This record gives sequence, structure tokens and C-alpha cells, in this order.
Amino acid sequence: MEAEKPPWRVLEFYSGIGGMRYSLEQTGFPCEIVEAFDINDCANDVYQHNFGHRPFQGNIQSISSDELDRYGANAWLMSPPCQPYTRQGLQRHSADARASSFIKIIELIPHLKQPPSILFVENVVGFEKSDTHEHLIEILTKAGFTLQEFILSPVQFGVPYSRPRYFCLAKRRPLCFQNSSIDGQLLTSPSTFLNKNSSVLATDGSFEFCQSLGNFLQAGVDGTGGVFAVPHHLIERWGPAMDVVFPSSKRCCCFTKSYYRYVKGTGSLLATLQPSDQDEPALRDLGLRYFTPKEVANLHSFPEDFDFPAHVSLRQRYALLGNSLSIAVVSPLLQYLFSDPL
Ligand SMILES: C[S@@+](CC[C@H](N)C(=O)[O-])C[C@H]1O[C@@H](n2cnc3c(N)ncnc32)[C@H](O)[C@@H]1O
Repeated sequence: MEAEKPPWRVLEFYSGIGGMRYSLEQTGFPCEIVEAFDINDCANDVYQHNFGHRPFQGNIQSISSDELDRYGANAWLMSPPCQPYTRQGLQRHSADARASSFIKIIELIPHLKQPPSILFVENVVGFEKSDTHEHLIEILTKAGFTLQEFILSPVQFGVPYSRPRYFCLAKRRPLCFQNSSIDGQLLTSPSTFLNKNSSVLATDGSFEFCQSLGNFLQAGVDGTGGVFAVPHHLIERWGPAMDVVFPSSKRCCCFTKSYYRYVKGTGSLLATLQPSDQDEPALRDLGLRYFTPKEVANLHSFPEDFDFPAHVSLRQRYALLGNSLSIAVVSPLLQYLFSDPL
């Protein structure tokens, strides 16, 4: 009889509010998060509140190879800062100080007595064109990893939410992927990695296959007053640049960490009142409001019981969620990554 495999020992770098951990838990694989790492106090408060464990609060840049070896981990999950690679940023790539800790940690891989057997990296679209990406691929290839890369968005998994992200999946030989015919490729369709028996609903990315936003909304949130209503002076100033959606809509834009601080390009706004018969109803008559943090968490497919500690402000909640990830996308990718070939 085949001996039962021991649980994967996982390190979660840049753990934030734990989107990666939730994604892994959802796969049902036997895994132990040996340690999580994040420098942000507030993110760690939220992580501790939900998982009962406080991540190691320090700079990932200062972790040594000896320390890493002592964890005895065989899988690394990483969602490093994306500012060096975003279109809105200066795109300084590896020259941006915020890229340093990631570069430092991946450069330790060849020096480890026990390098990871599995590695997963999440970042913004644009990362795949950076010199950091080139460096990552070079290090992993030399260290004996096989790679598959993806750009995927929640909309391809039935969630009415556009948040395309880059993912690198890596397995160190002799481990290999279920579908080895796509080794070394960058792919944009979930059908390339989901096996035929998967219960995950995956599409080509057309919004028509998505659920309505109404399924992700909290009941009774006021759009005509209160903290979530969009003030009229912002509608006057920024109206033409606003992305307005309705509960019946099957799409919305990516929520960034600046949502609620700025209205332009940071995420969609919800119309809570039905337009009258007018052809072009005035935006100020639509009861425009921000999506609540709970609704953003729902669109990121966070579990129902995910919650913030009371002291975390509204702005902090949006900032932390804007930095996080879509569990609807990451969980099937991890399922695939941790699976043995059939
Ligand atoms: C893109 S977010 C990852 C969010 C996470 N995946 C989640 O679900 O919330 C990047 C995270 O890295 C943390 N971070 C950035 N630079 C760091 C460093 N040098 N050392 C430790 N953590 C760092 C930030 O505080 C932030 O929480």
C-alpha cells in the first residue's frame, strides 16, 4: 500500500490579508502554513483576526538562507509588491526599491540546502515584461524548475469582475505538471490547465456567462446618504470618468488600493436607483455609492466569514483589499499546481 504523503510545508511571502492562504485552504490539499511574512502591521492584524496566527512582521529582504532552511518548507507562495510593474507607476522594474525584497529572496534559492519543490508567484500584468521576470525565470530554470505562466481574470471563472493578473507556476524536477504539453508557455485560458473532471466553471471571459453583481451586494446599503454615497461634488467633477454599474450588471472594474480615496480609475461605482424613462439619466439621480469592503471581498471570492477587526478604518480596508487577490482564480491554479500528474 502507498504511504500517505505528509502535508506540504508552505511559506507564504507577502501574506497581506491572507488571500493566498484562503485560496490554498479551498483546494483541500493537506498543507501546513509554516510561516507567513508581511511588513504591514495593519495587514497582520487582519490576518491574525481571521487565521489566529500573526505573520512574521519584518522585511523579507533581511531573511537569510539559513533561516529559510530552518523552516523545512517545500512550497513557497509569493505575491510581491506590484507598484514597480503597474502601468500607472513609473515602471522602474528591478530599479524600484519595492522590487528588492523579491529579488533578494529568489536569489537565495540556489544557496538553499532545501530549496522549494513548488513555487507560485502572483503579480500585475506587465510583470511578465519586466527584467525582474527575466531574472526569476533564469534563476528557476537553472535551479531545475519547470514553469507554466498564465494571465487570468475572475471574469473567466463566472465572477463579474475584471482583474487580470499574471501567475507563475513552478515545479522542481522530478515533479511535473498534469498537462506538460504547456510547459514553458504563457497562457490566457483556464481550459489549458483545468482537468476534464474539474467542477470549476471556466469560460472564455465573456461577461455574459457571469453572475449578476446583485449576487455580491449587501442588502440595505444607502446610496443617497451615509458613508458609502458618492458626494455630489465628486459626481460634478469626475462624472464622465466614472465607471457606473447596476445590480443587474454582469461586470465591474478592478478595485485598486486607492478606491474610496479617489474615484477616477480606482473601481466601479454602484447605481442604487433605477433610471427613470429619460434616455440619459443624470448621474446625480442614480443614488451612486461605493461598493462596501464586504462587497469588494465578495468579488474577490473571500469566504463569507472573512472579517476586519473593528479598529481597521474604512480607507485601510479598501487599501488592503485592493492589494489582495481573487480566490476564484488563485485557488484552481493552486489546485492544479499541487496536483500530481494523472
Ligand atoms: C500585493 S500585496 C499581497 C497581498 C496578499 N496576497 C493578500 O492577499 O492580501 C504585497 C504585500 O507585501 C507586503 N510587503 C511589501 N514589501 C515587503 C517587504 N519588504 N517585506 C515584507 N512584506 C512586504 C505589503 O505590506 C503587502 O501586504
